[in-house]
Amino acid sequence: MRMNTKALAMKGIILAGGRGTRLLPITKVTNKHLLAVYNKPMIYYPLGTLVGAGIKDVLIVTGPEHAGHFLNLLGSGKEHGIRLSYEVQEEAGGIAQALSLAEDFADGGKTMVILGDNIFEGSVAAAAKAFSRKRHGAKIFLKEVPDVHRFGAAVFAGKRIVAIEEKPKWPKSHFAVTGLYMFDGSVFDIIRTLKPSRRGELEITDVNNAYIKRKDMTYDIIKGEWNDAGTFDSLLRAANFVMRMQQKDA
Ligand code: DAU
Repeated sequence: MRMNTKALAMKGIILAGGRGTRLLPITKVTNKHLLAVYNKPMIYYPLGTLVGAGIKDVLIVTGPEHAGHFLNLLGSGKEHGIRLSYEVQEEAGGIAQALSLAEDFADGGKTMVILGDNIFEGSVAAAAKAFSRKRHGAKIFLKEVPDVHRFGAAVFAGKRIVAIEEKPKWPKSHFAVTGLYMFDGSVFDIIRTLKPSRRGELEITDVNNAYIKRKDMTYDIIKGEWNDAGTFDSLLRAANFVMRMQQKDA
């Protein structure tokens, strides 16, 4: 992964809460985001994406069960050349609920938010720089995949994105919404208006749909590979993908 060390004003947030039930029994003894993906703990990859975009200030939101393990591994962030803060999500109330805990940290500014189980091949430094100059809005990153029903799926009218459907049975495109988002400071006002979904969570897809509705959402289609590592099958695929990526870079 190419690194860009030029500092960016935007702050970064890694969402690493949730119960990790799809990876039981391993997640009984540690957090999903600390499991090995090939030769590094999972969280190193989303952290690398933020650092590679030039972000210097990062908040990790995690669950209460194994929160201390993150501190053992990452400490103050000095080793990675960044400043790390931590926040505990008491209950797995959804991705948007986890994000709501970052309001004080964001302090009204723009944020780059990444899910702790998402692994990206390419750099998003250029997109981050461009977004940091915008006055308002949000940006999502899409990837064409064969199994879009596993993700948030984009709905288009021509080239315009008109909605995102969360894990639809009958997806209207092959474009998945990856777990990387850029938001302006109003994201926290949007979260306050949300109601829990059928699975009892505050959904990040509802946040994104609110930006789409007020025509304040843009998207990029990512060129490099992308993987999430939330199930045993995808964890194995992610490990193989990381190994290939590292061999390509070597
Ligand atoms: O991977 C991309 C997908 O991530 C998107 O396409 C979907 O729109 C989005 O809803 C999400 O779907 P998942 O079903 O994969 O989300 P999951 O519940 O696995 O959570 C992903 C990460 O979010 C998890 O690794 C940690 C964080 N999270 C999740 C929950 C439910 C939290 O920090 N707190 C939570 O309460």
